[in-house]
Order: sequence, then structure tokens, then C-alpha cells
Amino acid sequence: MNVLVTGGAGFIGSHLVDALLARGDAVRVLDNFSTGTRTNLAHCAAQIELVEGDVRDLATVERAAQGCHAVLHEAAIVSVAESFMRPEETRDVNAGGAANVLHAAREAGARRVVIASSCAVYGDARALPLGESAPPAPLSPYAETKLAAEDQCRAACAAKGLDTVALRYFNVFGPRQDPSSEYSGVIARFMQAAIAGRGCTVYGDGRQSRDFVFVSDVVRANLLALDAAALGGVAINVGTGTRTSLLHIIHRLGNLVGKEIAAAFAAARVGDIRHSQADIARARKLLGYEPAVAFGDGLAVTLEWYRQQPKARGRG
Ligand SMILES: NC(=O)c1ccc[n+]([C@@H]2O[C@H](COP(=O)([O-])OP(=O)(O)OC[C@H]3O[C@@H](n4cnc5c(N)ncnc54)[C@H](O)[C@@H]3O)[C@@H](O)[C@H]2O)c1
Repeated sequence: MNVLVTGGAGFIGSHLVDALLARGDAVRVLDNFSTGTRTNLAHCAAQIELVEGDVRDLATVERAAQGCHAVLHEAAIVSVAESFMRPEETRDVNAGGAANVLHAAREAGARRVVIASSCAVYGDARALPLGESAPPAPLSPYAETKLAAEDQCRAACAAKGLDTVALRYFNVFGPRQDPSSEYSGVIARFMQAAIAGRGCTVYGDGRQSRDFVFVSDVVRANLLALDAAALGGVAINVGTGTRTSLLHIIHRLGNLVGKEIAAAFAAARVGDIRHSQADIARARKLLGYEPAVAFGDGLAVTLEWYRQQPKARGRG
């Protein structure tokens, strides 16, 4: 199958590229390298086709989608903080980009588009675990744009021959996640701090919890979504169905590095949600998805990867 991966130079996108190549698909990547890196694709550069460009530019997206049977759409402005600072640009990239991808996929005669959505669409949940029928309550421009992309995804299914699905990722972690901003994935930041022998900065009391899903499980959900029978634009949670507190992560990390890691507590961040946990019944039913990587195993693999990175990669 010919597959286009938008955002393929990013954290999750580059793992998708690896998995597609491993199963023999032909892969094209569309990325503008705003947050993704060439390093993430260096090991497979000779095996992929790279289109350097922006998902906001329809002609570029059409060129990238030509001849593709399916699209995995990961490209986005992914920082919630940035989405508050640049709401219009976030809308253009995340919602406008999704519209372009869906249009180009339809024009190219693709049969499936899988778009990356987010658990952020739920806002601050009252009841856990979060099923897809929970009313969306976006708390940021980022979440609003992800919801808008989901709507387009559903609508695009009306087009002959095109089927779509939106995967609502929970908190993804693993190798290649960029730890360089204070808004990066918390595990990436804690790892950097632990490796450098520093304490971890915890916003709030550390008892807040998230459904942390290892990147290879997210990849598998995408491959299952590529190959599934018609999904009709539905939204599907991708998580583990469990949740882990920040204090527990610090404790586990301490065990892995062989010494206790100090937590430096700072004021809770405005807008941070307290707990999050996916109900993955729909993913099980429609995709046959089952998370396969235990949290501790994912943490160990990720720590090993960060240990091997040059120090310059991030400030933790
Ligand atoms: N990491 C998570 O925990 C998480 C959780 C929920 C949803 N998601 C979603 O998963 C997807 C991938 O996220 P990630 O964590 O790998 O982030 P990432 O920043 O590593 O990847 C995003 C990629 O998109 C590219 N990109 C950004 N704007 C672009 C544009 N205008 N044109 C072309 N390419 C562009 C970037 O260069 C980067 O390679 C995103 O859609 C994100 O919203 C991620």
C-alpha cells in the first residue's frame, strides 16, 4: 500500500513511518520540520519519499497525496500553550490542514484517512474512564481545532470511496519525544531531569494522573485503523484504560536510575486537568486493539533512549 504520513518527521509520525516500512508499505512523508526533525528519519531516509512543505498549502498536500491509498495525518501544532499564543495559526494548521488532507485524499482516490485527534477534546472530565460518547468540552484552541478536524473527518466519509477515522490519543510517550519545552510531555521532561541528576518540577501536588500510552501501542492502533473495515468517521480513544500519577512516575524513574529523585513542587498550571483515563472498549471492538506495553517497560525503553542522546537535545 502507498501511505502518506503527514508530520512523519515528528515523534509519533516517525514511529509510524518505521512500522509501515517494516510491513512493506511505500511511504511518503509530508512535513515542514517545524517541530519534527530530519534526525528522526535519518535511519530510513533512503527508503521514503520526502515532501518538504506545509499542510496549509493545498497544492503541496495534493502533490503529496497523489497515488496514495491511505493517509495517516499527524501534522499539527501540538502545544496547548502555543495554541493560546497563536490561535489563528493553530486553526489554520490543525483544522485547515485537516481539511486540505481530506480534500487531497479524496482527489487522489485514497480509501482511508486516519487523523490524529486528542483526549484534549474532552476537557476536564467529571466521570472516568472517558468514553467517546462523553460530551466534548475543549478548554483550549488546540482542543477546539482537534474537534473541528474530527467533524471534517466525519463529513468527508460522505465522499465516494473515502473512509475516515479520528484516533483520540491520550498521553503518548516513548523514544524521540522532544523534552525541550516545559510544555513537552511530562515523561520526556522527567527523564531529562533524572538523567541530568536534577529534581523534577511538578506543577501542583503530583497526584494528578494521566493515561500514559507507549508510542508503539499508538502505532499499532493506527495500523489496525488503516486495515479495518469501514469506520465511518467515528472517533476512537487510544490509551491503555489505566492511569498513573506524576508522583508514581517519579518513583518508578527513581527505581530505574537507582536513586531517589526529588520533586520540586510549583503552583498548579491554569487549565491543567486533574485526571484522565481512556475507556478503550470501542478501540477493542472496532479495531481489535489491545495495549501491549506495560507502563514500566515503556518507561525503561524510553529512559534508555534518552540516555543515548547527546546532551544538547533538551533542557529537561
Ligand atoms: N504526543 C501526544 O501525547 C499526543 C496526544 C494527543 C494527540 N497527539 C497528536 O498526535 C500528532 C503527532 O504529535 P507528536 O506528539 O508526534 O508531535 P510532533 O510535534 O513531534 O509532530 C508533529 C509533526 O507535524 C509537523 N508539522 C507541524 N506543522 C506542520 C505543517 N503546518 N505542515 C507540515 N507539517 C507540520 C512537525 O514538523 C512535526 O514533525 C499531532 O496531531 C498531535 O496533536 C499527540
